[in-house]
Amino acid sequence: MSDVSAGGCPFGSAVRIGRKGHWEISDPELVARLLRDPRVVASSSPVDTDAPAAQQNLDGFISTWPVFSEQPEHLLIKRELRAWFSTRAADDLRPEFRAAALISASSLETGSNLVSYARDAAIRTVSLMLGSPDESDFSRIIDWAQSLMDYVISAERNDETNSATAEMHEEFCVWFANCYLPQSDSPIPLGFRTLMDAGEITLSHAVSMFAQLTTGALEPLTSGLVSVLLESADSTQHRTKSEAVDLGLLHRAPFSYVPRGVEAPLTELSDRISAGDRVRLMIGEANYTSYVQRQQPTTENAIRNLAFGLGPHFCFGYAVATAHLEETYQVLADQQLLSRIDPHSLLWHQSPGGPRYEQLLLGPPKAQ
Ligand code: HEM
Repeated sequence: MSDVSAGGCPFGSAVRIGRKGHWEISDPELVARLLRDPRVVASSSPVDTDAPAAQQNLDGFISTWPVFSEQPEHLLIKRELRAWFSTRAADDLRPEFRAAALISASSLETGSNLVSYARDAAIRTVSLMLGSPDESDFSRIIDWAQSLMDYVISAERNDETNSATAEMHEEFCVWFANCYLPQSDSPIPLGFRTLMDAGEITLSHAVSMFAQLTTGALEPLTSGLVSVLLESADSTQHRTKSEAVDLGLLHRAPFSYVPRGVEAPLTELSDRISAGDRVRLMIGEANYTSYVQRQQPTTENAIRNLAFGLGPHFCFGYAVATAHLEETYQVLADQQLLSRIDPHSLLWHQSPGGPRYEQLLLGPPKAQ
């Protein structure tokens, strides 16, 4: 745990790389512009045909995730997911998010770790969102999502990680086809079945969409809630739930960066950025800069929150995530727990995907 940091802000030490052909861009306006620039694409690198078979299969599977696909496939997926994760669908879930947050908040006491609370809350939300598979199944999904995400963000793959992840993946596909899809009373598995029956997507495609929904949701929901709580702990001002969520994510965005490939030279930025290069659009740093600017009244306040990305790959889960964070925040505010958060107890470490929180403690009740 030597790289664990206490207190402070995760974005002062965002990961830097300097290998040839790899670029990082953190200026907020530039990041916003490039997120919508057709020369900068989200598709992942082609499958390495020299890699072991298990790795090739996994890389092929991951490259069909919405976040790594491009038109026309991306548009097809987006059309379906837009309905499932609309603002209306998310608003319908708000009472359930509130009820779940309330139950868990009742077990919070002095010394409780709010990072664990945030993770429990995220797990419940993902389970509700994806059609509440029964509890024992859901803990397998979490393990699977975790190992797949570790695999996706790890720079080094080896025989051990390849075969462990491939085994988990196979087991998961069997579970998806035999246990998840047959559920009849839940809109998301029903939606997958309808698309498959109409021949619009294959089983493998459905599993890849499900994989991204699970892995894409869990960690950012967890760290997103901790960011919002930290922001509230630092403030003496009253904030509405939507202001609290906006500022929390602006200050400490759950993702440090989004990866992109360069398809045509970006000569207006540098004559050294050429086709085939990779760029990291540093949304965490861009957001942090915007947040700091917002604290300075003389600076123009044209700030865009990039925590959910922008452009064609803007987060599908935006509405669900916002509803979850707002309702959970409100429950904790109503229980007078926000003023008990101890920001000095914060422990976090930097991971390739972004800062990961480990500890944020609830202090004793304040004397009246
Ligand atoms: C606070 C919580 C969340 C944050 C900060 C967040 C952030 C992001 C960001 C930055 C992107 C853009 C990636 C890129 O441009 O390469 C993205 C995409 C995505 N997110 Fe989220 N996300 C959150 C929650 C969720 C949830 C709850 C879901 C599940 C419904 C989800 C599903 C997705 C999917 C499927 C994409 C890919 C969209 C596409 O490529 O068109 N996210 N998210």
